[in-house]
Amino acid sequence: MTNLWLDVVAVVDNSKGMTLDMLSGVAAVLASTFNVDTSIGIDLDNPRTTRLGLVTYNENATINADLNTYQSMYDVVSGIFDSLSALSSSRLSYLSNGLQTAADLLKNQSFGTLRDHYKKVVIVYAASYNGTGKLDPLPVAQTLKDDGVIIITVASVEHVRQELLNELAPIASPGFNFSIVTEGGNSTGIVQGALMQANCYCPNASVQYRESFVDKSSTPYGSCLHPINDSTSWKASQLSCRNHKAYLATEFTQHKHNFIVESVTSTTGFHPPLSYHIGLNQVLGKWVWDQPQGLPQIPLQSYSDWNPMFPIQSSSMNGVENFQNGQMTGWQNIDQLKVSTNYICESYACDTDNYCDANGNM
Ligand SMILES: *[C@@H]1O[C@H](CO)[C@@H](O)[C@H](O)[C@H]1NC(C)=O
Ligand SMILES: *[C@@H]1O[C@H](CO)[C@@H](O)[C@H](O)[C@H]1NC(C)=O
Ligand SMILES: *[C@@H]1O[C@H](CO)[C@@H](O)[C@H](O)[C@H]1NC(C)=O
Ligand SMILES: *[C@@H]1O[C@H](CO)[C@@H](O)[C@H](O)[C@H]1NC(C)=O
Ligand SMILES: *[C@@H]1O[C@H](CO)[C@@H](O)[C@H](O)[C@H]1NC(C)=O
Ligand SMILES: *[C@@H]1O[C@H](CO)[C@@H](O)[C@H](O)[C@H]1NC(C)=O
Ligand SMILES: *[C@@H]1O[C@H](CO)[C@@H](O)[C@H](O)[C@H]1NC(C)=O
Repeated sequence: MTNLWLDVVAVVDNSKGMTLDMLSGVAAVLASTFNVDTSIGIDLDNPRTTRLGLVTYNENATINADLNTYQSMYDVVSGIFDSLSALSSSRLSYLSNGLQTAADLLKNQSFGTLRDHYKKVVIVYAASYNGTGKLDPLPVAQTLKDDGVIIITVASVEHVRQELLNELAPIASPGFNFSIVTEGGNSTGIVQGALMQANCYCPNASVQYRESFVDKSSTPYGSCLHPINDSTSWKASQLSCRNHKAYLATEFTQHKHNFIVESVTSTTGFHPPLSYHIGLNQVLGKWVWDQPQGLPQIPLQSYSDWNPMFPIQSSSMNGVENFQNGQMTGWQNIDQLKVSTNYICESYACDTDNYCDANGNM
């Protein structure tokens, strides 16, 4: 959380249905989500900062803090408790108005600014849900998500109704719908986890390695894959990846191997029988995995996926490509200079450890 770098708008229901107890609970959870170490506001010496805006809504929406109001954790805590100290007299809870105001804030103060490349997150704390027709929140939520904004929903009621959860689920980005009650009391930890996940992404349209290739909302990992359809020798591929602060892809597990096969299968320029260079290479008689320039290469572990008859013992066949043999795709060693084929670069994801600038560079 110390290194979080996001633009976040919290959208809090303060209609009568919320109850004052629950509103105070939301204030406590929200204030403790950003702990003392999170850098709030803008700091010219440190790009890894988070801005937090606060919008409350009932029948109408109110901007309690825009994205530049809070410049410290002190501002966040005092601002939140101040703004969330009283309920509105309205029974109406038009989330569409709250979301639209958050969208306007992001449009005015984040998109198209120096923080355009910061991931944007809207956290909704809702106790009830009204609105159909022009006041239906779903289209507003969809537009936000289409613009790359992550929406986290937190159903904020003491006795959670399934109906409310069902209403909020399609508002949220997939897997980002939560509830203050059902998650066993650690709402702070759950939202922190969601924020750190939102902060972990791959720039430049590369494919983020994740739990399941088919399910784009499955748990993402901190690694980006770039399948390159440019027929090149192993050695030139390695140098090309390094020129982009990347390295030739590692396959430490069958899961990663299969994920790469699935991902190249849907990349233009990769055709069966698949063939592409990966980072395995032989140095002084030992098989090692390529790493970013300057870091030691990693020895081959217990997992291996050699095609039948491979590796061929030869002092000149020190590179490795994946090669498709019928249904199976596995490793074959090749001459690093003589065999030209496509290749896969890999790089670290942009995340709380690795800040990426507007060009996607770390
Ligand atoms: C919402 O805004 C309308 C129009 O400005 C106003 O008439 C109404 O009283 C407002 N409702 C609340 C609860 O503030
Ligand atoms: C966005 O900017 C426009 C034009 O400056 C202003 O009218 C509007 O109130 C702003 N909205 C928000 C939510 O900041
Ligand atoms: C708004 O939602 C609340 C809580 O679900 C409900 O009690 C109320 O009747 C709804 N109002 C309208 C106008 O739909
Ligand atoms: C989140 O939404 C999914 C359906 O999209 C649902 O299966 C799950 O139970 C929801 N979780 C919570 C906490 O509401
Ligand atoms: C809540 O979750 C966070 C993050 O997962 C964790 O660090 C913290 O220890 C948890 N707190 C409690 C009381 O379980
Ligand atoms: C990559 O594949 C596409 C489609 O097959 C092709 O048009 C393009 O020229 C290829 N690029 C290179 C560098 O071979
Ligand atoms: C991402 O793309 C930009 C613009 O095309 C380029 O300058 C930058 O080097 C790329 N970054 C990486 C990590 O490939």
